[in-house]
Amino acid sequence: MQDTHAWSGRFNEPVAELVKRYTASVEFDKRLALFDIQGSLAHAQMLAAGEIISPQDLKDIQRGMAQIENEILAGDFEWQLDFEDVHLNIEKRLTTLIGDAGKRLHTGRSRNDQVATDVRLYLRHEIDELQQLLKALQTSLLDLAEPHIHTIMPGFTHLQVAQPVSFAHHLMAYFEMLKRDDARLADCRKRVNRLPLGAAALAGTSYPIKREYVAELLGFEGVCENSLDAVSDRDFAIEFSAAAALIMTHLSRLSEELILWMSPRFSFIDIADRFCTGSSIMPQKKNPDVPELVRGKTGRVNGNLVALLTLMKGQPLAYNKDNQEDKEPLFDTVDTLNQTLRIYADMIRGIRVNPEAMRQAAMQGYATATDLADYLVKKGLPFRDAHEAVALAVRHAVEQKCDLSELKLDALQQFSDLIAADVYEVLTLEGSLNARNHTGGTAPAQVAHAIAKARASLT
Ligand code: ARG
Repeated sequence: MQDTHAWSGRFNEPVAELVKRYTASVEFDKRLALFDIQGSLAHAQMLAAGEIISPQDLKDIQRGMAQIENEILAGDFEWQLDFEDVHLNIEKRLTTLIGDAGKRLHTGRSRNDQVATDVRLYLRHEIDELQQLLKALQTSLLDLAEPHIHTIMPGFTHLQVAQPVSFAHHLMAYFEMLKRDDARLADCRKRVNRLPLGAAALAGTSYPIKREYVAELLGFEGVCENSLDAVSDRDFAIEFSAAAALIMTHLSRLSEELILWMSPRFSFIDIADRFCTGSSIMPQKKNPDVPELVRGKTGRVNGNLVALLTLMKGQPLAYNKDNQEDKEPLFDTVDTLNQTLRIYADMIRGIRVNPEAMRQAAMQGYATATDLADYLVKKGLPFRDAHEAVALAVRHAVEQKCDLSELKLDALQQFSDLIAADVYEVLTLEGSLNARNHTGGTAPAQVAHAIAKARASLT
């Protein structure tokens, strides 16, 4: 590499200033620096082991890289637009520090396999952290759910009161979603965790390299098996982005519920003040900004997924500069998800529950009507007839402005002579919950079991 602004002796003039800024990525890819160094050190170690560079070259490279790492960590490293990206900036500095050995580092390597390696090392690291954060959020959900296996709220379909469920059962639905999300990340990690180095520009290299050795040094589970594929595909990043979009989508749904539940029309919960803001004009307001932003930021993460898919779809093999555009969406998704998970775990922990308001809401929507129909079925009525009898009973209760359980026995018996005094047991919210006593049902015993099982799965 030369100190002039032109790329090499092949070029007659330096790159135009505007083009330089347009094509440079150092502003955003410098965050890959430590992974770039890690990859370079493993590559150099392999080159030395294969006697492609000398032991002294390796020592010099290690010493130079140690200094560069310190400079970067201390914020003293001078990133230069002239050197385009993180890779060339570090290589340039290395050569300044150690001379010819720095120029030998790039033997048998291209920035194409180098950048693919860096992104994989970066993403693997981030996935590990995200999985920890996801587990912390799952624990928060369990902590919130556990005391509420007997707290009854209306379960909704079409946002209309449907059947009573426990608050714990409702929360556990989200636990299940996050459990699958975690499994998706773990599965994606396996495909992220493969080594592209050795592919060089696209076809491999003529040096006697040992790819498996580099993979082992970097903790990869194996090597990318085809050199063209190794430098060109970003499917591992797309797959991650899809998993991230699903996590955000799940949290967006939960956010929508938290927002509704915090509205005074529901008053099911209160979110701790530190997650809310006031209004500059309306003194009474306390707004659920955090869940609203999570819902909003889901759009950005979903957008990043589409950006990466679109980036990939028209590219011929192998590497194309288009791929440089993979970084900002990927980084943005990682950052958004990381922050969201952190803040969410804390917010869930700080939720105050209002069981009385939940109960009142469950009482208001004829939530036990299905239980009355099931009661009649158990006494011999075909389900469709039971459905109709109960529909008429509900209509009557609506006219009377009361709940089914508040109708007198003789009033209920107008709708079916199969109804007896024991009907009131099924018309209670507790009766309705207890009746759904099977795996996946809302009966307190089942939910307690689900929570215990979930806790065990996290340890
Ligand atoms: N900054 C580039 C990227 O992110 C590195 C690889 C460049 N390779 C090349 N042949 N121009 O993709």
